[in-house]
Amino acid sequence: MVSHRPRVLSGIQPTSGSFHLGNYLGAVRQWVSLQDSHDAFYMVVDLHAITVEQEPATLRENTRTSVAQLLGVGLDPERCTLFVQSHVAEHAQLAWVMNCITGFGEASRMTQFKDKSAKQGADRTTVGLFTYPVLQVADILLYQADQVPVGEDQRQHVELTRDLAERFNHRYGQTFTVPNPYILKETAKIFDLQDPTAKMSKSASSPKGIVNLLDEAKVSAKKFKSAVTDTGTVVSFDEKEKPGVSNLLSIYSAISGRTVAELVEHFDGKMYGALKTELAEFFTEWVAPIQERTRTYLDDPAQLDAILAQGAEKARAVAEQTLTTTYDRIGFLPAKR
Ligand code: TYM
Repeated sequence: MVSHRPRVLSGIQPTSGSFHLGNYLGAVRQWVSLQDSHDAFYMVVDLHAITVEQEPATLRENTRTSVAQLLGVGLDPERCTLFVQSHVAEHAQLAWVMNCITGFGEASRMTQFKDKSAKQGADRTTVGLFTYPVLQVADILLYQADQVPVGEDQRQHVELTRDLAERFNHRYGQTFTVPNPYILKETAKIFDLQDPTAKMSKSASSPKGIVNLLDEAKVSAKKFKSAVTDTGTVVSFDEKEKPGVSNLLSIYSAISGRTVAELVEHFDGKMYGALKTELAEFFTEWVAPIQERTRTYLDDPAQLDAILAQGAEKARAVAEQTLTTTYDRIGFLPAKR
């Protein structure tokens, strides 16, 4: 089927047992809403996950849970292509090509690499972690994606993708679509509930500020209720002066569909405590059907496998074409079978 809709591609790592609200609001929620207007490719990036050490059984389980969660929040395999990265060999193959046109200095400037490698120390930092952004470039270019729905922390990787696509096209002739990041301002960066100046992150030092979709709702409700807020009492949106309250308002707005202005008016004359309690209650109701649907998919591994097999087949059809063209442009001798 030839599609004339613009194409989107994105990925998420299966590195924990649950996605957190930052993953969901920054990226995955947009994946769901782009399914009908776009030709959408979404994947669980297990190749990226092994840039840090993974226990095999845990990786397998987290990959399944990630797919089930994506279905649980509303991805529909009839309306998008959902697959696991390692099921499509072309990702690693194109990554090699991209590695060979990436400058060492260019890769060294990736801030996510700098942060992660600083945390881990040089001895535990792998070459895979260093070239991780280049694999991401290959992910995006393989599908000729027009847009890449991600959170703010991935912007630099999409910029690198644009640079490498242009470089390759310039050197070898038009081959790749140059993609744009698709980042929603309101939810581009969701912050940690205990440290509202740091982004909500799987690798945070404490789990207290991270709201996981699959945690028991009462655990998350407690986290909202004990969120760090700011001095003062008036509920208003001011990211500089009131980062804690503003973060809670952004989250509440995104999951409820009410605007921040509406919420501020609603809390007029009430204190921060009212915002926290109401948000905790709203979240509890909101997350229940997501957890329920995720559980249903996890309980039916055969169905999950079938969905992934179909997704990989659809993905491979596109990836193969791009890789064949790329190899040809570079001057590799065609393989006769
Ligand atoms: P990952 O798995 O770290 O995160 C998945 C998505 O969640 C977004 N995100 C956030 N958004 C807002 N606020 C936050 N606190 C927050 N934390 C995470 C991320 O921006 C991301 O969109 N390298 C990517 C995965 C990847 C990819 C790709 C993405 C691999 N190949 C190709 C796009 C296209 C990553 O590690 O995301």
